[in-house]
Amino acid sequence: MASTSRTVAVFGAGYIGLVTGACFAALGHRVAVRDVQPERVRLLNSGDVPIYEPGLGELIAANKERLTFTLDAREALQDAEVAYICVDTPPTASGDADLSRVWAVIETLKGAPHLTAVVIKSTVPVGTGDRVRCALDDAGLAHVGYAANPEFTAEGKAVEDFLRPDRIVIGASDASTAQLITDLHDGVDGPVQTLSIASAEMVKLAANALLATKITFINEIATVCEATGADVEEVATAIGMDHRLGPHFLKAGLGYGGSCFPKDSRALRAMASNSGYPFQLLNSVIEVNDLQPRRAIQRLKTELGGLKGRRIALLGMTFKAGTDDLREAPSAVIAARLLAESAEVHCWDPMARPADIAPWNATVRHSSPGEAMSDADAAIVVTEWPELKTVDWSAAGRSMRRRVLFDGRNVLDPNTMASAGFLYMSVGRAT
Ligand code: UGA
Repeated sequence: MASTSRTVAVFGAGYIGLVTGACFAALGHRVAVRDVQPERVRLLNSGDVPIYEPGLGELIAANKERLTFTLDAREALQDAEVAYICVDTPPTASGDADLSRVWAVIETLKGAPHLTAVVIKSTVPVGTGDRVRCALDDAGLAHVGYAANPEFTAEGKAVEDFLRPDRIVIGASDASTAQLITDLHDGVDGPVQTLSIASAEMVKLAANALLATKITFINEIATVCEATGADVEEVATAIGMDHRLGPHFLKAGLGYGGSCFPKDSRALRAMASNSGYPFQLLNSVIEVNDLQPRRAIQRLKTELGGLKGRRIALLGMTFKAGTDDLREAPSAVIAARLLAESAEVHCWDPMARPADIAPWNATVRHSSPGEAMSDADAAIVVTEWPELKTVDWSAAGRSMRRRVLFDGRNVLDPNTMASAGFLYMSVGRAT
Protein backbone atom coordinates (compact mmCIF):
# COMPACT_ATOMS: atom_id res chain seq x y z
CA MET A 1 0.00 0.00 0.00
CA ALA A 2 1.21 3.50 -0.83
CA SER A 3 1.80 5.71 2.24
CA THR A 4 -0.18 8.60 0.64
CA SER A 5 -3.38 7.88 -1.23
CA ARG A 6 -3.73 9.93 -4.42
CA THR A 7 -6.55 10.45 -6.87
CA VAL A 8 -5.75 9.24 -10.38
CA ALA A 9 -7.66 9.48 -13.66
CA VAL A 10 -6.67 6.75 -16.12
CA PHE A 11 -7.54 7.36 -19.79
CA GLY A 12 -8.13 4.17 -21.75
CA ALA A 13 -9.65 0.93 -20.47
CA GLY A 14 -7.61 -1.40 -22.69
CA TYR A 15 -5.00 -3.89 -21.45
CA ILE A 16 -2.67 -1.17 -20.20
CA GLY A 17 -5.25 1.22 -18.74
CA LEU A 18 -7.18 -1.47 -16.89
CA VAL A 19 -4.07 -3.06 -15.42
CA THR A 20 -2.69 0.37 -14.45
CA GLY A 21 -6.00 1.44 -12.90
CA ALA A 22 -6.56 -1.80 -11.02
CA CYS A 23 -2.97 -1.91 -9.72
CA PHE A 24 -3.03 1.73 -8.54
CA ALA A 25 -6.34 1.00 -6.77
CA ALA A 26 -4.73 -2.05 -5.16
CA LEU A 27 -1.91 0.21 -3.96
CA GLY A 28 -4.52 2.34 -2.15
CA HIS A 29 -5.14 5.16 -4.65
CA ARG A 30 -8.57 6.32 -5.78
CA VAL A 31 -8.83 5.70 -9.51
CA ALA A 32 -11.35 6.70 -12.17
CA VAL A 33 -10.86 4.93 -15.49
CA ARG A 34 -12.32 6.71 -18.49
CA ASP A 35 -12.95 5.10 -21.88
CA VAL A 36 -14.78 6.39 -24.96
CA GLN A 37 -16.48 3.04 -25.71
CA PRO A 38 -19.91 2.90 -24.02
CA GLU A 39 -20.14 -0.91 -24.15
CA ARG A 40 -16.74 -1.30 -22.47
CA VAL A 41 -17.68 1.07 -19.65
CA ARG A 42 -21.07 -0.59 -19.26
CA LEU A 43 -19.46 -4.03 -18.92
CA LEU A 44 -16.93 -2.77 -16.38
CA ASN A 45 -19.66 -1.09 -14.33
CA SER A 46 -21.65 -4.32 -14.30
CA GLY A 47 -18.64 -6.22 -12.89
CA ASP A 48 -17.41 -7.79 -16.15
CA VAL A 49 -13.90 -7.42 -17.54
CA PRO A 50 -13.91 -6.98 -21.35
CA ILE A 51 -10.46 -8.58 -21.81
CA TYR A 52 -8.83 -11.75 -20.54
CA GLU A 53 -5.87 -11.04 -18.29
CA PRO A 54 -5.06 -13.42 -15.44
CA GLY A 55 -5.77 -11.92 -11.99
CA LEU A 56 -7.21 -8.67 -13.40
CA GLY A 57 -10.89 -9.46 -12.73
CA GLU A 58 -10.08 -10.45 -9.15
CA LEU A 59 -8.01 -7.29 -8.61
CA ILE A 60 -10.79 -5.07 -9.95
CA ALA A 61 -13.38 -6.83 -7.77
CA ALA A 62 -11.20 -6.64 -4.65
CA ASN A 63 -10.64 -2.89 -5.05
CA LYS A 64 -13.99 -1.80 -6.40
CA GLU A 65 -14.56 0.77 -3.63
CA ARG A 66 -11.56 2.73 -4.97
CA LEU A 67 -12.18 2.12 -8.68
CA THR A 68 -14.79 3.72 -10.94
CA PHE A 69 -15.37 3.52 -14.70
CA THR A 70 -16.84 6.33 -16.73
CA LEU A 71 -17.41 7.68 -20.22
CA ASP A 72 -17.20 11.22 -18.93
CA ALA A 73 -13.73 12.80 -18.87
CA ARG A 74 -14.94 15.67 -16.66
CA GLU A 75 -16.21 13.20 -14.07
CA ALA A 76 -12.90 11.26 -14.15
CA LEU A 77 -10.97 14.50 -13.67
CA GLN A 78 -13.09 16.23 -11.03
CA ASP A 79 -10.82 15.13 -8.14
CA ALA A 80 -7.80 13.86 -10.10
CA GLU A 81 -4.30 14.95 -9.10
CA VAL A 82 -2.66 12.77 -11.75
CA ALA A 83 -3.90 11.91 -15.26
CA TYR A 84 -2.46 8.72 -16.77
CA ILE A 85 -2.77 8.45 -20.55
CA CYS A 86 -3.03 4.77 -21.53
CA VAL A 87 -4.75 5.02 -24.92
CA ASP A 88 -3.55 3.07 -27.93
CA THR A 89 -1.14 4.58 -30.45
CA PRO A 90 -1.81 2.46 -33.56
CA PRO A 91 0.52 2.58 -36.57
CA THR A 92 -0.27 4.77 -39.56
CA ALA A 93 0.40 3.41 -43.07
CA SER A 94 4.02 4.64 -42.84
CA GLY A 95 4.57 2.86 -39.51
CA ASP A 96 4.59 6.07 -37.46
CA ALA A 97 2.54 6.04 -34.26
CA ASP A 98 -0.86 7.70 -34.59
CA LEU A 99 -1.09 9.98 -31.56
CA SER A 100 -4.58 11.36 -32.26
CA ARG A 101 -6.06 9.60 -29.23
CA VAL A 102 -3.36 11.08 -27.00
CA TRP A 103 -4.14 14.61 -28.24
CA ALA A 104 -7.86 13.98 -27.76
CA VAL A 105 -7.21 13.13 -24.08
CA ILE A 106 -5.06 16.23 -23.57
CA GLU A 107 -7.93 18.35 -24.94
CA THR A 108 -10.16 17.03 -22.15
CA LEU A 109 -7.67 18.01 -19.42
CA LYS A 110 -8.38 21.76 -19.78
CA GLY A 111 -9.80 23.15 -16.57
CA ALA A 112 -9.22 19.99 -14.49
CA PRO A 113 -9.30 21.65 -11.05
CA HIS A 114 -6.77 19.60 -9.06
CA LEU A 115 -4.40 18.31 -11.72
CA THR A 116 -0.70 18.28 -10.71
CA ALA A 117 0.77 15.88 -13.26
CA VAL A 118 0.04 14.32 -16.64
CA VAL A 119 1.72 10.99 -17.38
CA ILE A 120 1.96 9.09 -20.66
CA LYS A 121 2.12 5.33 -20.41
CA SER A 122 1.20 4.75 -24.06
CA THR A 123 4.15 3.95 -26.32
CA VAL A 124 5.07 7.15 -28.16
CA PRO A 125 7.90 8.37 -30.39
CA VAL A 126 10.82 10.17 -28.79
CA GLY A 127 10.04 13.89 -28.72
CA THR A 128 6.37 13.44 -27.85
CA GLY A 129 7.05 14.88 -24.39
CA ASP A 130 8.04 18.23 -25.89
CA ARG A 131 4.87 18.31 -27.96
CA VAL A 132 2.76 17.36 -24.94
CA ARG A 133 4.40 20.16 -22.93
CA CYS A 134 3.38 22.69 -25.62
CA ALA A 135 -0.14 21.27 -25.76
CA LEU A 136 -0.48 21.47 -21.96
CA ASP A 137 0.78 25.07 -21.96
CA ASP A 138 -1.70 25.95 -24.72
CA ALA A 139 -4.48 24.34 -22.69
CA GLY A 140 -3.74 26.62 -19.72
CA LEU A 141 -1.96 23.82 -17.85
CA ALA A 142 1.52 25.35 -17.69
CA HIS A 143 1.59 24.68 -13.91
CA VAL A 144 1.06 20.92 -14.43
CA GLY A 145 4.10 18.59 -14.46
CA TYR A 146 4.63 15.99 -17.18
CA ALA A 147 6.16 12.52 -17.09
CA ALA A 148 6.76 9.58 -19.41
CA ASN A 149 6.29 6.33 -17.48
CA PRO A 150 6.39 3.53 -20.08
CA GLU A 151 5.01 0.11 -19.27
CA PHE A 152 6.87 -3.18 -19.56
CA THR A 153 3.96 -5.50 -18.85
CA ALA A 154 3.52 -8.58 -21.00
CA GLU A 155 0.01 -9.84 -21.69
CA GLY A 156 -0.82 -12.89 -19.61
CA LYS A 157 1.32 -11.65 -16.70
CA ALA A 158 0.58 -7.95 -16.78
CA VAL A 159 -0.59 -7.65 -13.15
CA GLU A 160 2.51 -9.46 -11.91
CA ASP A 161 4.76 -7.35 -14.18
CA PHE A 162 3.15 -4.13 -12.88
CA LEU A 163 3.42 -5.00 -9.19
CA ARG A 164 6.85 -6.70 -9.37
CA PRO A 165 8.63 -5.09 -12.33
CA ASP A 166 12.32 -5.32 -13.24
CA ARG A 167 12.29 -1.50 -13.14
CA ILE A 168 9.99 1.51 -13.04
CA VAL A 169 11.14 4.04 -15.64
CA ILE A 170 10.19 7.67 -14.99
CA GLY A 171 11.19 10.55 -17.25
CA ALA A 172 9.84 13.72 -15.67
CA SER A 173 9.77 17.44 -16.41
CA ASP A 174 10.93 18.32 -12.88
CA ALA A 175 12.00 16.72 -9.61
CA SER A 176 8.67 17.11 -7.82
CA THR A 177 6.79 15.37 -10.67
CA ALA A 178 9.36 12.55 -10.62
CA GLN A 179 8.83 12.25 -6.85
CA LEU A 180 5.03 12.26 -7.21
CA ILE A 181 5.14 9.41 -9.75
CA THR A 182 7.69 7.53 -7.63
CA ASP A 183 5.40 7.89 -4.59
CA LEU A 184 2.41 6.66 -6.62
CA HIS A 185 4.34 3.40 -7.04
CA ASP A 186 4.96 3.06 -3.30
CA GLY A 187 4.31 -0.63 -2.62
CA VAL A 188 5.50 -1.78 -6.04
CA ASP A 189 8.43 -4.15 -5.66
CA GLY A 190 11.00 -2.85 -8.16
CA PRO A 191 13.78 -0.26 -8.56
CA VAL A 192 12.96 3.21 -9.91
CA GLN A 193 15.12 4.72 -12.64
CA THR A 194 14.57 8.44 -13.23
CA LEU A 195 15.88 9.79 -16.51
CA SER A 196 15.09 12.40 -19.14
CA ILE A 197 11.70 12.30 -20.83
CA ALA A 198 13.30 11.56 -24.22
CA SER A 199 15.33 8.68 -22.75
CA ALA A 200 12.23 7.21 -21.06
CA GLU A 201 10.39 7.33 -24.39
CA MET A 202 13.36 5.64 -26.09
CA VAL A 203 13.77 2.92 -23.42
CA LYS A 204 10.38 1.48 -24.26
CA LEU A 205 10.97 1.35 -28.01
CA ALA A 206 14.55 0.10 -27.66
CA ALA A 207 13.67 -2.63 -25.14
CA ASN A 208 10.90 -4.02 -27.34
CA ALA A 209 13.11 -3.81 -30.45
CA LEU A 210 15.93 -5.69 -28.68
CA LEU A 211 13.54 -8.42 -27.52
CA ALA A 212 12.16 -8.69 -31.06
CA THR A 213 15.72 -8.90 -32.36
CA LYS A 214 16.59 -11.69 -29.92
CA ILE A 215 13.57 -13.73 -31.08
CA THR A 216 14.40 -13.10 -34.72
CA PHE A 217 18.03 -14.04 -34.18
CA ILE A 218 17.10 -17.43 -32.74
CA ASN A 219 14.58 -17.94 -35.56
CA GLU A 220 17.36 -17.38 -38.08
CA ILE A 221 19.67 -19.71 -36.17
CA ALA A 222 16.81 -22.24 -36.30
CA THR A 223 16.72 -22.00 -40.08
CA VAL A 224 20.45 -22.62 -40.25
CA CYS A 225 20.02 -25.54 -37.78
CA GLU A 226 17.46 -27.11 -40.13
CA ALA A 227 19.95 -26.96 -42.98
CA THR A 228 22.93 -28.22 -41.00
CA GLY A 229 21.54 -30.83 -38.60
CA ALA A 230 21.91 -28.88 -35.33
CA ASP A 231 19.00 -28.65 -32.88
CA VAL A 232 17.92 -25.08 -32.01
CA GLU A 233 16.46 -26.13 -28.66
CA GLU A 234 19.81 -27.52 -27.52
CA VAL A 235 21.62 -24.52 -28.97
CA ALA A 236 19.28 -22.00 -27.28
CA THR A 237 19.60 -23.72 -23.92
CA ALA A 238 23.37 -23.59 -24.05
CA ILE A 239 23.45 -20.00 -25.35
CA GLY A 240 21.07 -18.93 -22.57
CA MET A 241 23.39 -20.29 -19.88
CA ASP A 242 25.80 -17.47 -20.68
CA HIS A 243 24.71 -14.84 -18.12
CA ARG A 244 25.61 -12.08 -20.59
CA LEU A 245 22.97 -13.40 -23.00
CA GLY A 246 20.32 -14.85 -20.65
CA PRO A 247 17.81 -17.64 -21.36
CA HIS A 248 14.77 -15.49 -22.18
CA PHE A 249 13.30 -14.75 -25.61
CA LEU A 250 15.32 -17.48 -27.26
CA LYS A 251 12.34 -19.65 -28.15
CA ALA A 252 12.27 -20.28 -31.88
CA GLY A 253 8.82 -20.33 -33.44
CA LEU A 254 6.58 -18.74 -36.02
CA GLY A 255 7.78 -15.20 -35.34
CA TYR A 256 6.70 -12.58 -32.84
CA GLY A 257 3.20 -11.14 -32.95
CA GLY A 258 0.86 -9.25 -30.66
CA SER A 259 -0.07 -5.64 -30.23
CA CYS A 260 3.42 -4.47 -29.24
CA PHE A 261 6.50 -5.89 -30.98
CA PRO A 262 5.28 -5.57 -34.60
CA LYS A 263 3.90 -2.07 -34.02
CA ASP A 264 6.75 -0.79 -31.88
CA SER A 265 9.50 -2.12 -34.13
CA ARG A 266 7.87 -0.45 -37.15
CA ALA A 267 7.44 2.76 -35.12
CA LEU A 268 11.13 2.81 -34.13
CA ARG A 269 12.15 2.12 -37.73
CA ALA A 270 9.93 4.97 -38.95
CA MET A 271 11.21 7.29 -36.21
CA ALA A 272 14.85 6.51 -37.04
CA SER A 273 14.17 7.03 -40.74
CA ASN A 274 12.40 10.36 -40.05
CA SER A 275 15.45 11.43 -38.09
CA GLY A 276 17.68 10.64 -41.08
CA TYR A 277 19.05 7.27 -39.97
CA PRO A 278 17.95 4.07 -41.74
CA PHE A 279 17.89 1.45 -38.96
CA GLN A 280 19.22 -1.48 -41.02
CA LEU A 281 19.31 -4.12 -38.30
CA LEU A 282 15.74 -3.42 -37.24
CA ASN A 283 14.64 -3.38 -40.85
CA SER A 284 16.04 -6.89 -41.29
CA VAL A 285 14.37 -8.06 -38.07
CA ILE A 286 11.00 -6.88 -39.36
CA GLU A 287 11.53 -8.50 -42.78
CA VAL A 288 12.72 -11.83 -41.34
CA ASN A 289 9.82 -11.91 -38.90
CA ASP A 290 7.34 -11.33 -41.72
CA LEU A 291 8.84 -14.29 -43.57
CA GLN A 292 8.84 -16.69 -40.61
CA PRO A 293 5.21 -17.93 -40.78
CA ARG A 294 5.44 -18.05 -44.59
CA ARG A 295 8.46 -20.35 -44.36
CA ALA A 296 6.45 -22.74 -42.20
CA ILE A 297 3.66 -22.87 -44.78
CA GLN A 298 6.18 -23.47 -47.55
CA ARG A 299 7.68 -26.44 -45.70
CA LEU A 300 4.23 -27.92 -45.12
CA LYS A 301 3.26 -27.34 -48.74
CA THR A 302 6.35 -29.20 -49.93
CA GLU A 303 5.62 -32.08 -47.55
CA LEU A 304 1.98 -32.39 -48.63
CA GLY A 305 2.76 -31.94 -52.32
CA GLY A 306 0.58 -28.81 -52.52
CA LEU A 307 -2.13 -27.28 -50.36
CA LYS A 308 -5.08 -27.06 -52.76
CA GLY A 309 -8.07 -28.86 -51.27
CA ARG A 310 -6.08 -29.98 -48.22
CA ARG A 311 -7.76 -29.76 -44.86
CA ILE A 312 -5.43 -28.11 -42.33
CA ALA A 313 -6.04 -27.87 -38.58
CA LEU A 314 -4.64 -24.78 -36.82
CA LEU A 315 -4.04 -25.53 -33.15
CA GLY A 316 -4.10 -22.13 -31.49
CA MET A 317 -5.02 -18.73 -32.89
CA THR A 318 -3.93 -16.16 -30.27
CA PHE A 319 -0.48 -14.55 -30.66
CA LYS A 320 0.74 -16.43 -27.59
CA ALA A 321 -0.74 -18.59 -24.83
CA GLY A 322 -2.40 -17.03 -21.80
CA THR A 323 -4.22 -14.31 -23.72
CA ASP A 324 -7.34 -13.93 -25.87
CA ASP A 325 -5.54 -11.44 -28.12
CA LEU A 326 -5.46 -12.05 -31.87
CA ARG A 327 -3.70 -8.84 -32.84
CA GLU A 328 -0.88 -9.43 -35.35
CA ALA A 329 -0.98 -13.14 -34.53
CA PRO A 330 1.10 -15.37 -36.86
CA SER A 331 -2.05 -17.52 -37.08
CA ALA A 332 -3.74 -14.81 -39.17
CA VAL A 333 -0.90 -14.84 -41.73
CA ILE A 334 -0.96 -18.64 -41.79
CA ALA A 335 -4.74 -18.88 -42.18
CA ALA A 336 -4.74 -16.24 -44.92
CA ARG A 337 -1.97 -18.04 -46.83
CA LEU A 338 -3.66 -21.41 -46.54
CA LEU A 339 -6.94 -19.96 -47.79
CA ALA A 340 -5.12 -18.22 -50.64
CA GLU A 341 -3.74 -21.66 -51.61
CA SER A 342 -7.33 -23.03 -51.60
CA ALA A 343 -6.83 -25.15 -48.49
CA GLU A 344 -9.66 -25.71 -46.00
CA VAL A 345 -8.81 -24.25 -42.58
CA HIS A 346 -10.14 -25.69 -39.31
CA CYS A 347 -9.15 -23.95 -36.06
CA TRP A 348 -9.14 -24.56 -32.36
CA ASP A 349 -8.26 -22.09 -29.63
CA PRO A 350 -9.36 -22.12 -25.98
CA MET A 351 -9.43 -18.33 -25.54
CA ALA A 352 -9.67 -16.45 -28.85
CA ARG A 353 -12.90 -14.53 -29.11
CA PRO A 354 -14.84 -15.16 -32.30
CA ALA A 355 -13.35 -12.51 -34.55
CA ASP A 356 -15.58 -11.54 -37.41
CA ILE A 357 -12.69 -10.42 -39.59
CA ALA A 358 -10.84 -11.95 -42.50
CA PRO A 359 -9.37 -14.52 -42.57
CA TRP A 360 -11.25 -16.01 -39.63
CA ASN A 361 -14.71 -15.76 -41.17
CA ALA A 362 -13.56 -18.22 -43.86
CA THR A 363 -12.40 -20.84 -41.35
CA VAL A 364 -14.25 -23.45 -39.29
CA ARG A 365 -13.93 -23.18 -35.51
CA HIS A 366 -13.85 -26.28 -33.28
CA SER A 367 -14.09 -26.76 -29.53
CA SER A 368 -11.19 -29.20 -29.10
CA PRO A 369 -7.87 -29.95 -30.81
CA GLY A 370 -9.08 -33.49 -31.61
CA GLU A 371 -12.20 -32.20 -33.32
CA ALA A 372 -10.19 -29.71 -35.39
CA MET A 373 -7.79 -32.48 -36.48
CA SER A 374 -10.48 -34.96 -37.46
CA ASP A 375 -10.20 -35.70 -41.21
CA ALA A 376 -7.33 -33.21 -41.56
CA ASP A 377 -4.40 -33.70 -43.92
CA ALA A 378 -2.09 -31.89 -41.51
CA ALA A 379 -2.11 -29.91 -38.27
CA ILE A 380 -0.05 -26.87 -37.30
CA VAL A 381 0.68 -25.94 -33.68
CA VAL A 382 0.45 -22.15 -33.86
CA THR A 383 0.11 -21.22 -30.17
CA GLU A 384 1.84 -22.99 -27.28
CA TRP A 385 -1.36 -23.69 -25.31
CA PRO A 386 -0.68 -26.08 -22.37
CA GLU A 387 -3.79 -28.06 -23.38
CA LEU A 388 -1.74 -29.49 -26.26
CA LYS A 389 0.40 -31.42 -23.79
CA THR A 390 -2.60 -33.56 -22.80
CA VAL A 391 -3.90 -34.42 -26.28
CA ASP A 392 -4.09 -38.17 -27.00
CA TRP A 393 -1.96 -37.93 -30.16
CA SER A 394 -2.45 -41.57 -31.16
CA ALA A 395 -6.23 -41.15 -31.14
CA ALA A 396 -6.00 -37.75 -32.85
CA GLY A 397 -3.69 -39.22 -35.50
CA ARG A 398 -6.10 -42.08 -36.23
CA SER A 399 -8.86 -39.57 -37.01
CA MET A 400 -6.71 -37.70 -39.55
CA ARG A 401 -6.42 -38.36 -43.25
CA ARG A 402 -2.65 -38.01 -42.98
CA ARG A 403 -0.62 -37.88 -39.78
CA VAL A 404 1.39 -34.79 -40.52
CA LEU A 405 2.03 -32.18 -37.84
CA PHE A 406 4.06 -28.98 -38.01
CA ASP A 407 4.93 -27.88 -34.49
CA GLY A 408 5.43 -24.14 -34.92
CA ARG A 409 6.29 -23.68 -31.25
CA ASN A 410 8.46 -26.75 -30.54
CA VAL A 411 6.21 -27.75 -27.66
CA LEU A 412 5.66 -31.41 -28.46
CA ASP A 413 8.05 -34.28 -27.92
CA PRO A 414 9.37 -35.62 -31.24
CA ASN A 415 9.56 -39.19 -29.86
CA THR A 416 5.95 -39.16 -28.62
CA MET A 417 4.80 -37.85 -31.97
CA ALA A 418 6.84 -40.47 -33.86
CA SER A 419 5.35 -43.25 -31.69
CA ALA A 420 1.89 -41.90 -32.47
CA GLY A 421 2.74 -42.37 -36.14
CA PHE A 422 3.16 -38.72 -37.04
CA LEU A 423 5.43 -37.22 -39.61
CA TYR A 424 6.54 -34.51 -37.20
CA MET A 425 8.10 -31.25 -38.32
CA SER A 426 9.23 -28.45 -36.03
CA VAL A 427 11.32 -25.26 -36.08
CA GLY A 428 15.09 -25.65 -36.16
CA ARG A 429 15.19 -29.33 -35.30
CA ALA A 430 16.28 -32.06 -37.65
CA THR A 431 13.01 -33.97 -37.42
C1 UGA B 1 5.75 -7.37 -24.95
C2 UGA B 1 6.92 -7.23 -23.96
O1 UGA B 1 7.36 -8.52 -23.52
C3 UGA B 1 6.53 -6.40 -22.76
O2 UGA B 1 7.67 -6.17 -21.94
C4 UGA B 1 6.00 -5.04 -23.26
O3 UGA B 1 5.58 -4.23 -22.17
C5 UGA B 1 4.81 -5.29 -24.16
O4 UGA B 1 5.26 -6.08 -25.28
C6 UGA B 1 4.31 -3.95 -24.63
O5 UGA B 1 5.03 -3.25 -25.34
O6 UGA B 1 3.22 -3.52 -24.18
P1 UGA B 1 3.64 -9.01 -25.18
O7 UGA B 1 3.46 -8.43 -26.54
O8 UGA B 1 2.45 -9.12 -24.29
O9 UGA B 1 4.73 -8.15 -24.34
O10 UGA B 1 4.18 -10.47 -25.38
P2 UGA B 1 5.57 -11.29 -25.28
O11 UGA B 1 5.44 -12.32 -24.24
O12 UGA B 1 6.73 -10.37 -25.17
O13 UGA B 1 5.59 -12.03 -26.70
C7 UGA B 1 5.62 -11.29 -27.92
C8 UGA B 1 5.70 -12.23 -29.09
O14 UGA B 1 6.99 -12.83 -29.17
C9 UGA B 1 4.70 -13.38 -29.04
O15 UGA B 1 4.18 -13.59 -30.33
C10 UGA B 1 5.56 -14.56 -28.60
O16 UGA B 1 5.05 -15.80 -29.04
C11 UGA B 1 6.86 -14.24 -29.27
N1 UGA B 1 8.03 -14.86 -28.63
C12 UGA B 1 8.39 -14.49 -27.38
C13 UGA B 1 8.77 -15.80 -29.32
O17 UGA B 1 8.47 -16.15 -30.49
N2 UGA B 1 9.88 -16.34 -28.72
C14 UGA B 1 10.26 -16.00 -27.48
O18 UGA B 1 11.29 -16.53 -26.99
C15 UGA B 1 9.50 -15.04 -26.78
